[in-house]
Amino acid sequence: MSLINKLKSFHIEGAVSMHVPGHKNNTIGKLSDVIKPGYDLTEIPGLDDLHDPSEVLDQLNAELAQKSEGYHAQAMVNGTTNGIISSIYALNEKVSNFYIIGEAHKSVYHGISLVNAAYTVISAEELYESELGSSCVIFTSPAYTGSLVKNIKQHIEYIRNNSGFSIIDAAHGAHLSITENFKESLLLAEADVVVESYHKMLPALTMASVLFTKDIQLHQRIIHYINHFETSSPSYLVLASIEYAQQFYKEYNDNIFFKKRAVLIHCLKEAEIEVAEQDDPAKLMLTWKRGAYNLELSFRKTGIYSEMVTDEGVLWCLPLWHEGDSYPFKELLHKISKLTPAVSSEGTVKGIDILEGKICVANIVPYPPGVPLVLKGTAITERDLKRVKHYQVNHVKIEGIQYNINYYMNEAEL
Ligand SMILES: Cc1ncc(COP(=O)(O)O)c(C=O)c1O
Repeated sequence: MSLINKLKSFHIEGAVSMHVPGHKNNTIGKLSDVIKPGYDLTEIPGLDDLHDPSEVLDQLNAELAQKSEGYHAQAMVNGTTNGIISSIYALNEKVSNFYIIGEAHKSVYHGISLVNAAYTVISAEELYESELGSSCVIFTSPAYTGSLVKNIKQHIEYIRNNSGFSIIDAAHGAHLSITENFKESLLLAEADVVVESYHKMLPALTMASVLFTKDIQLHQRIIHYINHFETSSPSYLVLASIEYAQQFYKEYNDNIFFKKRAVLIHCLKEAEIEVAEQDDPAKLMLTWKRGAYNLELSFRKTGIYSEMVTDEGVLWCLPLWHEGDSYPFKELLHKISKLTPAVSSEGTVKGIDILEGKICVANIVPYPPGVPLVLKGTAITERDLKRVKHYQVNHVKIEGIQYNINYYMNEAEL
């Protein structure tokens, strides 16, 4: 089936989105007012230059910077990945090593590996025993699942007082502080760099992200690298969607959101689904008696598509419901009330035993969430392979595994 037919079929079947992007199949916000094929222009006179903006895109950046006082902003069309890698390049000119707090997205490891920098993975508490001068600390907050790093503002102040730099990967947090009933935006933690994926939780097109930097010189240095990595033909549709999402953020009223959220949680509990609320009210983690993988499949069989499934549960990204949205809320409740357990089959596991004790030659990454399980250059243990098997049996995609298998199979044949 062609891609276009596949995309059409999701619409015809009335797929219900509990995943990113935040416009939820164009049912949240009114993106279609600004996203029209005819607006897919290029950097012609009057439309500015994304990598050296001085007109309309400069105005867009100025508008984005208003999200939080004291930051410079840059709209990006290549996701938070672009902002993180470019920030690591720029900060690598100032520091001699990186600290990664907890679990980080693969883009953090890619950036650090590309600049060939030294790094250590530590907990937030270990920061206080670490030498921070000439180092950059990378936080991920909120995590994919919606949990926030506690006391992040204090950690960042401590890093700054000890002459270190900080980056927050806030890919999942562009909607925080949207009203006072949501947890605080990570921009308020005062890190040197914060990167947000507008596309994940706000109504913006996929790949719409924004870089926020405190210091203008550092900002310009990051832009220098963005200019190297990002396309020189930026999508004006993605850029327009960033402006649209910022407007949505400014004007949002959460009345309907919290009412619908309460109704949804009630309906899930009625269906004997356990609901774990997260720091971020727009994230829910769900499980039931037959396990998370069976729950995700059962949802999918009824046409509800989730964001992710792990041993912890099925992750849902809630729509930012609002007055006049066209999200199929009634259909969602109906589908949940009629939910029946799907018949699950085991996924196949092939040829991974050859990897035991071998040095990993390409990062092994369960996707989603995109957090590496085994990093290139480290030994692959029996425990790692047990995890891989467990994921594969449950149909989780594992990036890099086949590359490692092929590498060692070829080596064995030589
Ligand atoms: C924690 C985290 N950081 C960064 C990214 C990359 O963001 P983007 O898709 O906007 O490039 C992701 C994507 O899922 C993520 O989960």
